[in-house]
Amino acid sequence: MTSSIDTGAPATGSGLLAEGRVGSFTDHMVTMRWTEDEGWSRPELGPVRELSLHPATACLHYGQSVIEGLKAHRQPDGGMAAFRPRAHARRIQRSAHRLSMPEVPEDSFVEAIEQLVAADERWLSGDPGLALYLRPVLFASEANLVPRPAVEYTFVLIGFVIGDYFGDDTDSLAVWVCRDQSRSAPGGTGNAKYAGNYAPTLMAHRRAKEAGCQQVVWLDAVEHRWVEEMGSANLFFVRGTGAEAELVTPELTGTFLPGITRDSVMAIAGRLGLRVRQERVSIERWHAEAEAGLITETFAVGTAAVVTAVGKVVDDGFTWTIGDGRPGPVTQSVHQTLVDLHHGLLPDPDGWLHRIPRT
Ligand SMILES: Cc1ncc(COP(=O)(O)O)c(C=O)c1O
Repeated sequence: MTSSIDTGAPATGSGLLAEGRVGSFTDHMVTMRWTEDEGWSRPELGPVRELSLHPATACLHYGQSVIEGLKAHRQPDGGMAAFRPRAHARRIQRSAHRLSMPEVPEDSFVEAIEQLVAADERWLSGDPGLALYLRPVLFASEANLVPRPAVEYTFVLIGFVIGDYFGDDTDSLAVWVCRDQSRSAPGGTGNAKYAGNYAPTLMAHRRAKEAGCQQVVWLDAVEHRWVEEMGSANLFFVRGTGAEAELVTPELTGTFLPGITRDSVMAIAGRLGLRVRQERVSIERWHAEAEAGLITETFAVGTAAVVTAVGKVVDDGFTWTIGDGRPGPVTQSVHQTLVDLHHGLLPDPDGWLHRIPRT
């Protein structure tokens, strides 16, 4: 069985892995169940198998389903480390809370990650360009057609092999700005990693492809002018160059996902001597400052996208290029620093790497 995830990357026909292709599901899964009477069960490792669901399973009808996405990487000593699993555990708790679902205990979430990575690390060769992508999903598994919070939930963790970054460093994204549809609204679920946030974006994604772009840029739902995020990544703008360069990223408004990579990149930027500001950035400002050479680079960050340059923007009949359209020096150094951190090649002052105990 194979799968793929939207890395925001141009299709590269990604390379093959020695055993197992990029995108191959690994062969284990971890499950946990929650019932009103018993609470959470312990994480249980087993072979990947199909789920048997009653047609009235609540998540299929009313959408109580939240997901996460994180990665584990090979370390210099041959072991494995997951990247910031506790941050992902806390985010799925917040997503679950928003959807009136029970919160998976942080330690059980981390134990599930440890079990799956230990069982399936053999799927990952030593190729530093590859990682194990881990996909937790929590859904209402009660058979019930009354629209109320379910009284039974299932948590499943699966994994597959993913390219650690796409293509080569000369690749940049072309992005399409969606002007007439919104991804989320104030008071909605935009800052939760809720399954229902994704299907409504697929139509825009198709339109972006038709416009020759790989990704959609979402604007706020009220004024349709404030840049929020991309389909599966957050955005950073580089203003200025050299020692004067500073990073600007849209401030969190509750309407888009507070990315864990976004948070990591803000910390990394400080270590690289870059100032970072969080503020609202309008689409008009992005356009004008890019054309005036004030915004010199733009990049997207996310677990799957890692750090990916944005080279071209297509918006409402206008097309503009950022810098020379290729990844600039700040994008490249943030990218390299993050990849090196993933692989245990740099000091880890914040304890982001979670070593997987060997079983
Ligand atoms: C909508 C959306 N925004 C941003 C991100 C980036 O978040 P993270 O860095 O935690 O992967 C993702 C990916 O999870 C996403 O799905």
